[in-house]
Amino acid sequence: MHADRLIRKKRDGQLLDRAEIFEFVEHYTRGDIPDYQTSALLMAVFFRGLNARETADLTEAMMRSGQVIDLSDFPQPKVDKHSTGGVGDKTSLVIAPVAAAGGLLVPMISGRGLGHTGGTLDKLEAIPGFRTRLTLAEFRQALRRTGAALIGQTEQLAPAERKLYALRDVTATVESIPLISASIMSKKLAEGIDALVLDVKTGSGAFMKTPESARELATRMVEIGTACGKRVEALITGMSQPLGSAVGNTLEVIESIETLKGRGPQDLLDVSRELTARMFVLGGLDASLDAARTRFDQILSSGAALQKFAEIIEFQGGDPRVLEDYSRLPSAGHEESVVAWQEGYVAALEAEALGRASMRLGAGRERMDSVIDRAVGLVFEKKVGDAVNTGDRICTIYANERSFLPEVREAIRSATRIGADPVKPSALVLGHVP
Ligand code: URA
Repeated sequence: MHADRLIRKKRDGQLLDRAEIFEFVEHYTRGDIPDYQTSALLMAVFFRGLNARETADLTEAMMRSGQVIDLSDFPQPKVDKHSTGGVGDKTSLVIAPVAAAGGLLVPMISGRGLGHTGGTLDKLEAIPGFRTRLTLAEFRQALRRTGAALIGQTEQLAPAERKLYALRDVTATVESIPLISASIMSKKLAEGIDALVLDVKTGSGAFMKTPESARELATRMVEIGTACGKRVEALITGMSQPLGSAVGNTLEVIESIETLKGRGPQDLLDVSRELTARMFVLGGLDASLDAARTRFDQILSSGAALQKFAEIIEFQGGDPRVLEDYSRLPSAGHEESVVAWQEGYVAALEAEALGRASMRLGAGRERMDSVIDRAVGLVFEKKVGDAVNTGDRICTIYANERSFLPEVREAIRSATRIGADPVKPSALVLGHVP
């Protein structure tokens, strides 16, 4: 195939036809088209966009690059959720166990960290032994045994998505509505689900910086899913500051476990409850959102979700003793505090800059072959709206490489604003589609 012809076509603003898109995805997945040509095409798409038909074709081509799972032999409603990515966004680790404990089947194909955002797979792999690469047979077995499986794309499941995702991560081609839509919906549609709840983030730490662009992305994804016969709903949620307190893989696993124990931060709990409640309603388990929210709270307070997380960890090869003993998780060699330099109220914690600071410590990838450090990251003691006195700790940096500390400390200080006047944090749920 002549990839240069496709690159030129898109560069010049022309439409790619269905056959061209399918041929490109097939050849790239097989390794016949090099990353440098694919990077150029992705950049052309980034600037020129794809229309609704091209996006649907790309989604389908990526979905069909592997198998589409048939879960019709499972009796439970099959419902998943997916986030468009944020900083400190660990809701999957809370939602999957609660949803499975509540009676849904949750076949969750997740991603790795992308740009400044974290990824569910990287977080789960902080748990010693946890395997996110299961065969299809193991995936089905996990679902049969625990009701949930959290895995990545494989050679069998949306392999094109896996390759393109990794390439976009390091070529500054993530923040594109058609590319994000195709990325998310191709792997979700390969999962064999009946219904899907999307968490479309907006704000400085999201790929969609404005509520308008988040709504456009949400609409595009809901349309693709609905056209494929799935029940799909999207919530638009705020990501102007990190979600919860922890940013970084191990630190986020600990915060998720604390949340399953009923001791998590309120914002994380609230977003997780809203998303899970929609999953329960779309799955037909509850007739109203209020009943579904109550179901979420009961599952959490009964300990059933924590027990479910232990089962999921164990089935996927991880050490469930981490739930009671955090010293079994990777730990960082150095801790350093960033303290308030004046009295007042925290007015902003710029999420993207903080995500990049965490990446700089080693929590995310700067190149496709970067090895991430699961132990490092940031934990915030203050969030937007909190009052601070001079010298109060705002954040603790967990690092292994001391030489990164001055740069990261400076990045956190410039991402933090302290003002004299009280500040009301913005709402977490900003809208929904449809
Ligand atoms: N999450 C995904 O799975 N893909 C994207 O492109 C962005 C967020």
